[in-house]
Amino acid sequence: MLQSYALRRALTDGKYRKIFVERLTEPLHLNILSAGVALFGSYPAKVAFDLVVRQQYAYPILFAAQSAKKLGIQRIVVLEFGVATGAGLLNMCELAARTEAATGVLIDVVGFDTGSGMPPAVDHRDLPEYFQEGDYPMDFEALRRSLPPRCRLIIGDVAETIPGYLESVRPDAPIGFVSVDVDYYSSTVRTLPVLDGEPEQYLPIVPVYLDDVGMDGCNPWNGELLAVAEFNEARPLRKIAPFNLLRSKRIFKNAQWIDRMYAAHIHDHPTRTPATAKRAQRAYISNEYLR
Ligand SMILES: C[S@@+](CC[C@H](N)C(=O)[O-])C[C@H]1O[C@@H](n2cnc3c(N)ncnc32)[C@H](O)[C@@H]1O
Repeated sequence: MLQSYALRRALTDGKYRKIFVERLTEPLHLNILSAGVALFGSYPAKVAFDLVVRQQYAYPILFAAQSAKKLGIQRIVVLEFGVATGAGLLNMCELAARTEAATGVLIDVVGFDTGSGMPPAVDHRDLPEYFQEGDYPMDFEALRRSLPPRCRLIIGDVAETIPGYLESVRPDAPIGFVSVDVDYYSSTVRTLPVLDGEPEQYLPIVPVYLDDVGMDGCNPWNGELLAVAEFNEARPLRKIAPFNLLRSKRIFKNAQWIDRMYAAHIHDHPTRTPATAKRAQRAYISNEYLR
């Protein structure tokens, strides 16, 4: 009886589901190898082996820092939309510090929230069966006291706070990662214009984490996925798509965060525009069939 209760808890609680359903169903040799990485591995190796808490932030922040480094950019900013009590935001700050140490790229963190929890749901597209007005309030003072210097918290409805924030984003510290955890369709519609700035305010590919696409009731006609579809429809040169081949690139393939990871493609970014894109000339492709 006790055993079946423990097993039930283990499988329903998110943390244990990750261990039992995602991790222990992976090949044994990889789990054994990851024990060595946990003890002796570098930070990028730990991210590769999903050994860092909140892989859904660890991977894209590292990706962004590495992309910035390749472009000679020394500072980036990463954003969390939907902060609540700030567990995700503080974790993001810790991962930013670890990524900074591993790559040398400086990372600022900005969180956005109403400060008073969820606004009212507009209609069925906001998934009212899962979220409602007043859910996820914030203890602003407690969170403010815990924020490290690299982090800013911007309070207010995102529709009102994003335009002013975007004006402050400088091309020498572009946006490198966006986490969208505002739950509703309507709030996501108001969040995605953060991707409407000047091309140089972004890295050419900005990972976008969509937290709320996994419930059974989610589909392309409601919630965050509908907001993304409308964003793509309305913008010829900015597109949000599932992160390319991410599952096949990961060592551990059962992790759910992989299915929530998207990328915003800034097609008008100077590095993706023929007149300004610079890359080394490619040499002949080797061809062993030539005589
Ligand atoms: C699920 S919580 C975020 C949890 C947090 N990311 C974490 O990891 O702990 C969703 C948050 O989105 C915020 N939110 C929803 N709609 C918003 C809007 N239009 N503007 C600003 N914040 C919003 C709510 O206040 C709520 O705190």
